[in-house]
Amino acid sequence: MNPIKRCDSTVAWAALQGHYQAHGRDLDLREAFARDPLRFEAFSLQAPEVFADLSKNHWDLVTQKLLTELARETGLEARRDAMFAGEPINTTEGRAVLHTALRAPPGEGLFSDEVHGVLDRLLAFAEAVRDTSASGIRDVVNIGIGGSDLGSQMVVPALDAYAHPKLTLHFVSNVDGHDITPVLRRLKPEETLFIIASKTFTTQETLANAAVARDWFLAQGGTDIGRHFVGVTTNLAAAAAFGIHTTFGFWDWVGGRYSLWSAIGLPIAIAVGAEHFRAFLAGAHAMDRHFAQTPLETNLPVQLGLLDVWYRNFHGYTSRSVAPYHQGLKRLPAYLQQLEMESNGKQVDLDGQPLSYGTSPVVWGEPGTNGQHAYFQMLHQGSDVIPVEFIAVKRPSHPYPDLQVKALANCLAQSAALMLGKTTEAALADKAPTASAALGKLTVARHRTFPGNRPSTTLLLDRLTPHALGALIALYEHRVFSSGAVWGINSFDQWGVELGKALASDLLPRLAGPAAAGSAAGLDASTAGLLARLAA
Ligand code: F6P
Repeated sequence: MNPIKRCDSTVAWAALQGHYQAHGRDLDLREAFARDPLRFEAFSLQAPEVFADLSKNHWDLVTQKLLTELARETGLEARRDAMFAGEPINTTEGRAVLHTALRAPPGEGLFSDEVHGVLDRLLAFAEAVRDTSASGIRDVVNIGIGGSDLGSQMVVPALDAYAHPKLTLHFVSNVDGHDITPVLRRLKPEETLFIIASKTFTTQETLANAAVARDWFLAQGGTDIGRHFVGVTTNLAAAAAFGIHTTFGFWDWVGGRYSLWSAIGLPIAIAVGAEHFRAFLAGAHAMDRHFAQTPLETNLPVQLGLLDVWYRNFHGYTSRSVAPYHQGLKRLPAYLQQLEMESNGKQVDLDGQPLSYGTSPVVWGEPGTNGQHAYFQMLHQGSDVIPVEFIAVKRPSHPYPDLQVKALANCLAQSAALMLGKTTEAALADKAPTASAALGKLTVARHRTFPGNRPSTTLLLDRLTPHALGALIALYEHRVFSSGAVWGINSFDQWGVELGKALASDLLPRLAGPAAAGSAAGLDASTAGLLARLAA
């Protein structure tokens, strides 16, 4: 692979700076639509399963052209091809990045025999569990954290329409005992399967919860640990040492936050079955092909990633709000937080040199319409501009058309309202029955003014099928790849989680051991003060 050119030293970056000053900063969406009746068509893209309306964003065709040149100049295509080819693009860990191989059809991807060998065994196991009259299983508890939790925890409710009616899936991640306690309270050991999911099988939270589950199981009269505990890990030896004999492996070239396509997806496979799990993989594979083969100009993950760069580094927007108008996607924002912020929350380039520009935005959100009744006030009238990403699903999986049209109407109304806003004159002309009569009309109208020109993207799916969801998640993965490639960072390591882990190991004996006077030695005064209060 060619050496990476830093984005801030490219010709395109300098051109984008000039373009931002001349046209970008003051772009008004209302004027842009008035000038160009075909703006919607010009800024719409179709990728497998996902239609994207990018027209309500603060960019024009010149911006898009310069951003695409930026992608070329920084070597995005070569980097993408290196990923698919299995080169060790995760340079700080010397690893390939091959989650795309997990969803390639047999014979097509790298390591195909290994991948499909585990997949076949995994799906056969999932089907055996789903045969509830033979397996006796009614509850499945996934114990894992981060990438060993968030993917399955997000997908299982999203595919609720496809779920086995007699099985309940539970997710325990937090080392705080308030997580596992209410789950265990509802279980019977003979009807429960525990999945201990940990890539490394060394994660403190997961091993601690697994030990609690095993103790609970034995205390409740459970007899066959081998049948009721399975492991998903790259560290088969550690799982065996824990007493788990049924294990499903994966490989160090699967990053934790990219692992739901591997055996880590076992809860998904149990919930929806082998056929739907294969469709889920196929949807992601369709998006992989789009990403690998489509010219950058019409490549949806690339264009979304470039828009993220434009907003972060030129407009200075530091966050993005995600608003899925499908309750099944309620955990999508949490999933995206790990995917985007653990991947691109970096401050040095691939050579370890400090960056002079920002990287990952803060990603956050809630399903619409709940968000509307909570923080949308700030999105409409707050002092910060926060791009919003709406996700709408045309055809619901529920039988209530009245609810569906209301949800869709709200989704469209919010993106229109953010863009159109409301002038003080329009507010003056309106009646405001709940406004205080003690205030002047103009004062009230100013409170009821919306600046508008607030940007948003709308992603539209026909139905939330396993295939469509697979494509949607892969779209986000490749978008994160694209912005990370332009920023010239390693999107596949996570050294930032190390320090806290090390300090927790140091503090643990000081909290758990006898509260010796010297147990605060070497601590900063704040941590020592808090420790003293907690240990007293
Ligand atoms: O939070 C850091 C992290 O390493 C994540 O990247 C990973 O998804 C999570 O911990 C869980 O790790 P493991 O699967 O090894 O238990």
